[in-house]
Amino acid sequence: MSAVPVVADISYDALLDDPYPIFRRVRDTAPAVFVAAANLTLVTRFDDIMKIERDPATYSSDNPASLVNKVMGPTFMRKDGAEHAVGRKAIEPSFRPGTIKEHWAPKFAEICERLLNSVIKAGEADLFPALAAPMASLSLMEMIGFKEMPWETLALWSQSLIDGAGNYSRDAEIERKAMAAGAGIDAAIEAVLDHHREHPNPSILSSMVRADPPMPIEEIRANIKVIIGGGLNEPRDAILTLTLGLLANPAQKHSVLAKPELWPTAFEEAVRWISPIGMYPRRVTREADLSGVTLPEGLQIGLCVGAANRDDRRFADPDQFDIFRPRQSHLAFGAGAHFCAGTWVSRQTVGRIVVPMLFERLANLRLRDDAPPVLRGWVFRGPVSLPVRWDA
Ligand code: HEM
Repeated sequence: MSAVPVVADISYDALLDDPYPIFRRVRDTAPAVFVAAANLTLVTRFDDIMKIERDPATYSSDNPASLVNKVMGPTFMRKDGAEHAVGRKAIEPSFRPGTIKEHWAPKFAEICERLLNSVIKAGEADLFPALAAPMASLSLMEMIGFKEMPWETLALWSQSLIDGAGNYSRDAEIERKAMAAGAGIDAAIEAVLDHHREHPNPSILSSMVRADPPMPIEEIRANIKVIIGGGLNEPRDAILTLTLGLLANPAQKHSVLAKPELWPTAFEEAVRWISPIGMYPRRVTREADLSGVTLPEGLQIGLCVGAANRDDRRFADPDQFDIFRPRQSHLAFGAGAHFCAGTWVSRQTVGRIVVPMLFERLANLRLRDDAPPVLRGWVFRGPVSLPVRWDA
């Protein structure tokens, strides 16, 4: 067995700008590599991440030192076993396929319709602020069960929590903003909790207070923060990535528009191609051998699902967006006990409501030669700007 090799000649900005060439290099180097710029040991091969996710006793989600716990509080996402299962079960009623189809889907279609109506006459827009960000924010607001507020408020809270959870340099301003977001969220929960207790409904807050046993208030606060930090960016980025994949590949776009039953396949390919969550953490609880590399007890590792989803041992020509590639499961929603709770709702919202409606309503939707899309990020990745035109 060998020690974890180190890669020290990569800048953090290069990771943010385009992590994929770096992921390829790391993947070709060893099963686990310490990347100095990220200050983390990264696991990038598909099969290794699967091995890790099947062995939670060795690779734990629980990390008492994690900044997520400091910024958000005690969340089930950073617990294992029974403690995790209780929290997960408490929110499950809001995410049932029947509830999504009958309750959430019509509401989300209405939000999307409204947003598209407000831009349709303009003939051009950046789809990030015009559609994807307000769509993701307003639909999450509905699902949580908050009173209506400007979409920008929830989006700001989400970003402030994410920045706080990654604030390893202890920047005081980032910490202040994360704490302010936390206080805003606690107040927004307080304002509606009695209503959800007294009037049962499919919202996440209602599921939490009606769970058996009901979730304690400090856990409600923490778990709602995790859902705000982890349930807004990803659908937003998936809307833009799927749109970009199709606009940049007109033949595939024509196929999907001619055969709407291809939408679900196109969605899965989009989140494989550019995974909205590129990396999430685990902690090694006892010395372990990962495919020949020794991981010491206590080591923090980052599971780079964004890299695994482009592992050429599993996906041929992995850098290409190709809805016709042979069907293979991917890791965009994680794996194992922590497999994303929002998978089904995202498949419905992004792949069956928002992006199909976008192409249906905005005729001759196209990219702009004079304003190319801009993509950014590696822990979270997606287009931060997607300027388009259509025939108004
Ligand atoms: C395209 C959209 C999405 C992607 C790609 C995505 C991805 C992921 C991934 C990779 C994880 C695993 C994290 C880990 O194991 O540490 C996760 C967990 C989770 N996601 Fe999502 N997510 C998406 C949308 C959503 C939405 C819309 C919600 C809520 C409304 C949501 C709620 C959650 C929750 C609660 C967890 C924690 C599950 C647990 O620990 O048991 N996600 N997601």
